[in-house]
Amino acid sequence: MHTRFHPAFLTALLLVSAALPAAVSFESEVKPIFEKHCVECHGPKKQKSEFRLDDREVALHGGDSHAPNIIPGMPGESPLIRFVTTEDKETRMPPKGARLSGAEVATLKRWIAEGAVWPESASLKKTDPMDWWSLKPLTKPALPSGDAAHPVDRFILTKLREKGLRPSGVADARTILRRLNFDLIGLPPTPEELDAFEKEASQDLPTAIGRAADRLLASPRYGERWGRHWLDVVHYGDTHGYDKDKLRPNAWPYRDYVIRAFNADKPYARFVEEQLAGDTLYPDTLDGHVAQGFISAGPWDFIGHAELPETKLDGKIARAPTATTWSPTRPEPSWRRPRSALAATTTSSTR
Ligand code: HEC
Repeated sequence: MHTRFHPAFLTALLLVSAALPAAVSFESEVKPIFEKHCVECHGPKKQKSEFRLDDREVALHGGDSHAPNIIPGMPGESPLIRFVTTEDKETRMPPKGARLSGAEVATLKRWIAEGAVWPESASLKKTDPMDWWSLKPLTKPALPSGDAAHPVDRFILTKLREKGLRPSGVADARTILRRLNFDLIGLPPTPEELDAFEKEASQDLPTAIGRAADRLLASPRYGERWGRHWLDVVHYGDTHGYDKDKLRPNAWPYRDYVIRAFNADKPYARFVEEQLAGDTLYPDTLDGHVAQGFISAGPWDFIGHAELPETKLDGKIARAPTATTWSPTRPEPSWRRPRSALAATTTSSTR
């Protein structure tokens, strides 16, 4: 048998295929139909029946009741074609407004018959909702070359150079101390401190900076300044912060715990553990108990919790312990494990 085609046969083949109509292009023919008639309800804003037509994965496999709605190669069997052609007002798509034209339906049928080819590039780009920088392992980047004394400066200088920028000159001593103060304790230096620093800096600037930084880091004001960020994250307030905004006179021990933890340079893992399940993990320590103020730090619906009886649905929902945050259907990082203890403290915490 010949393993090669006869040239005449090849030519004939080429002529035949040239005579066939070109395959339907998803990009230029199908996508515009979906965009014009469907994506308003099956796209980024709404996903009626959990179905969307801007996302290849969902379009080909998804849908609440009829999935798969597109069956490649079988337009007659594909529910989608049934919905765009039916006369039934209950199920037709789109449910209201202009129907698809005969030409549009024909295009969809042909596209499905040809295998419903949907290039990945024409599909929605999805980002992984758990793709957080904070969940990635730490890596040590290589130190950029350069002659800056401090490694951090080398990174900064490299970026500045990349952007065609030059570093500013060295600030004067008074400015440097003010910056250190505001950064580390949030308060300005006193005139006496400024004078003393200026004197020290004129002899040996790096040493003067190091000493000032140590002094400020050791100040109790340091924890007050930096603890605020954590208190913001957990929505700490001295009132309930919702509707009947009553005072929360017993919130402060938790606030003081946070300040104390910052000043003592408490390791982060311990800091988090104490707040989530301190009574179980560190039962013999004061911090193990006070830290759990975290669980009740946020806004609290006084009406729902205290005034609506639990016989009402609203009352029941309001009392469910932070149900959305701790939903067991989410992936469970190890730090959430002491769940029973957590549930116990959540349900029993009083404000
Ligand atoms: C005005 C909103 C709206 C528009 C526009 C619309 N739909 Fe729908 N679609 C719906 C609703 C609502 C449902 C759920 C119907 C039900 O469950 O009874 C649905 C369901 C579907 C389903 C079934 C999904 C499943 O498996 O449950 C398909 C397929 C579908 N639509 C295709 C289309 C197509 C194709 C278009 C455009 C030609 C379109 N829809 C336009 C509102 C819309």
